[in-house]
Amino acid sequence: MKPLIAGNWKMNGLSASLAEFDAMVAGYDVVLRSAVDLMVCPPATLLTSMAGRVGTSGIALGGQDCHAAIQGAHTGCISAEMIADAGGTSVIVGHSERRADHHETSELVAAKAKAALRAGLLAIICVGETQSERLEGKALEVVGRQLKESVPVELDASRVVIAYEPVWAIGTGLTPTTADVIEMHAQIRALLSDLFGAAGASIRILYGGSVKPSNAAELLSAANVGGALVGGASLKAADFLPIAQAAAAIVR
Ligand code: PGA
Repeated sequence: MKPLIAGNWKMNGLSASLAEFDAMVAGYDVVLRSAVDLMVCPPATLLTSMAGRVGTSGIALGGQDCHAAIQGAHTGCISAEMIADAGGTSVIVGHSERRADHHETSELVAAKAKAALRAGLLAIICVGETQSERLEGKALEVVGRQLKESVPVELDASRVVIAYEPVWAIGTGLTPTTADVIEMHAQIRALLSDLFGAAGASIRILYGGSVKPSNAAELLSAANVGGALVGGASLKAADFLPIAQAAAAIVR
């Protein structure tokens, strides 16, 4: 399967940023397209505008979060169906910033993942340990538990992506060693096989946390790394496209 390079714009981007998106669309040429799946998850306010600018490039769009319900009295929230209606084909759920800032539990994340499935979206389910959990030697245990609790078995494996994002690596410039990435992704792969049987082997497991052009090749070459979830470096075409190119250059 092609690697997936997904950009998470977080709470960044005004309509002026659409020019940057246009540069991504233009740079996602036929060669790159044949080797890598590219996605941008903008703030919801830009989703419809971006959907109108994707053209035939094949860049996918996604939301950064969704409510578990289809609709209703939930001021400020958007549903998976609304993301699909605005032109998104994916949604990130359980990002550590949502888990920390909005006190989201793995149980809620699982409900959101089911909502994504209900709306026909790909669910990008995030897991990752904090720095103290890593230092205490609990990273594998914590991420294993998050995964089991956040990934409902009734999901369709072909519509699930896992993103392993160590919280301490997000936006800090720090990254785990390649050995640590390989160890964690191997554990996630084994748990996905327990959950989904043979289909678990084809679920893409993204690495996320301070991915940039200079470290993308090494991180993306690690075993069981099926792509990257990119924050800061996804805001500029000049950073984001080289990450996609690094993914394309890896012989699998
Ligand atoms: P970062 O963010 O690339 O800026 O570290 C990654 C993420 O939070 O998805």
